[in-house]
Amino acid sequence: MNTKEKVIEILYNMDKEEISGEEIAKRLNVTRNSIWKAINSLKNEGYDITSLPNGYRLNNKSELYTKESINKHLKTDCDIIIYDKVDSTNNIAKMLAQQGKKEGTVVIAKSQAQGRGRMGRSFISDSENGLYMTIILRPTVLASECVSITVIGAVAVCEAIEKICGKECLIKWVNDIYINEKKVSGILTEAAIDFESGRLQYAIIGIGINVSPPKEGFSKEIEDIATAIYEKSPQGEVKSMLCAEIIDRFFFHYNKIEKKEFINKYREKSMIINEMVDVYVGEEIISGKAIDIDRDACLVVDTGKEIRKFNSGEARVRKNGKKA
Ligand code: BTN
Repeated sequence: MNTKEKVIEILYNMDKEEISGEEIAKRLNVTRNSIWKAINSLKNEGYDITSLPNGYRLNNKSELYTKESINKHLKTDCDIIIYDKVDSTNNIAKMLAQQGKKEGTVVIAKSQAQGRGRMGRSFISDSENGLYMTIILRPTVLASECVSITVIGAVAVCEAIEKICGKECLIKWVNDIYINEKKVSGILTEAAIDFESGRLQYAIIGIGINVSPPKEGFSKEIEDIATAIYEKSPQGEVKSMLCAEIIDRFFFHYNKIEKKEFINKYREKSMIINEMVDVYVGEEIISGKAIDIDRDACLVVDTGKEIRKFNSGEARVRKNGKKA
């Protein structure tokens, strides 16, 4: 932790109104001048700190979302890298994975200029109201098992939101998380395959969650289908706790991936089993009743003529018998 990060922790956690530069310097065993520099730099970053005759006060303690505050709640041994703004955490993670960064490296950004979604779509994440992170993995499973990673991600997000935020979540196959029938989170898994062994060189799982709505609200195009966990930005360390819990739940399931225990939880949380669905696979649209999700996370659909299994694609639940 650098001096600046230690200073913000002290300001955030203090129970009195203000604290003198001298006291902070003493606690951190650094000079008054370095505290003054740290305070100025924090002010430039947007922290609302008032300089008083006898010290400093942090006025708005609305959020603490730093590497340290995440690590404080994290049980898994991970290397957290946090940025204010990037183009896409998946892009950064991919670059780091290619450079050899180890499994358990987690790239987090407070906002993304070009967040990416599935099927070439964009994922709106340019204001600081969400949780955007990508975990680097070095899986030993075959490339064909890659879908398990996405499925574990969806289960981990559900479990974490339910535990930390107390909101019930459901999963729409493969990897969209819903609260009250609106999408709150999406997952984008990408991988590089070693063609000789059929195994993965690396995989990255990117998770995006709407924690609160964007300041200007969701855009017209998505307001009927998107939601956020909270109506307003949560106070304190909620985002840090959520982030840590997702990582812990993810590795809890991932570390025993071959047992496939996560699939039971995934089935339990599925919002499409027993629903009439349209499955979009490339140019094809297949309609039928979703009857199961099998052990390999394939969606099993009864079309009326045959039973078909899908290991990728997008399923949309029919509304009143019509395409959604
Ligand atoms: C989807 O719903 O289509 C998937 C959205 C995935 C968004 C996350 S946010 C963190 C990571 N970085 C990205 O650019 N995308 C993923």
